[in-house]
Amino acid sequence: MSRLSPPARKALLTLHLVTSLGWLGVDLVLLALGVAVLRGADPAAVYPISALVGTVLFAPLSVAVWLVGVASALLTPWGLLRHRWVLVKFLLTTVMTGLVLFQLSPTLRHAGEAGAAFPVRDRIDLVVAPSVSTTLLIVATVLSTYKPWGRLRRATGTPARRPTTAAAR
Ligand code: HEM
Repeated sequence: MSRLSPPARKALLTLHLVTSLGWLGVDLVLLALGVAVLRGADPAAVYPISALVGTVLFAPLSVAVWLVGVASALLTPWGLLRHRWVLVKFLLTTVMTGLVLFQLSPTLRHAGEAGAAFPVRDRIDLVVAPSVSTTLLIVATVLSTYKPWGRLRRATGTPARRPTTAAAR
């Protein structure tokens, strides 16, 4: 049962799309900056920008995506633990948010401070990490649109239905 009015649900979905796909966009920017250095751009110029993008956009967006995603599940008939596609997205986003906050962000800050002194062997990490996270976010987007794998447990006597946004119009 939806706990939101149809306009409120659409507003929440809009916020969810803006934050989650914004997160994907910022991830691609970090990937491009990491690749630029490997292709010969000056790390003293590029890494401070990566650190700024990571601190001001990527890390706050990861928290926003997690919070708005959880709200989108709990405040709609989808629920957090009712549908496999929602649960997988939740787990995936939780792991990613942890890695962004506690691993990638400190590395980006370190690279921003070190600039050209940032070890060459560590520069590959600033390409691998955004490549992996971009792939995971594309997986999350595909799961969101196809909504595969059905329900985790079926409510007794209730036929399985897809609680689409249209149903809330
Ligand atoms: C904590 C993590 C997340 C949870 C619990 C979650 C949950 C949900 C739920 C319940 C909906 C349906 C909302 C509604 O019908 O009103 C939804 C829609 C959607 N989510 Fe997420 N989400 C999460 C993260 C993400 C991420 C990381 C992405 C992509 C980068 C994403 C992309 C989408 C898209 C594109 C839709 C729209 C699908 C449609 O309307 O057909 N979500 N999400």
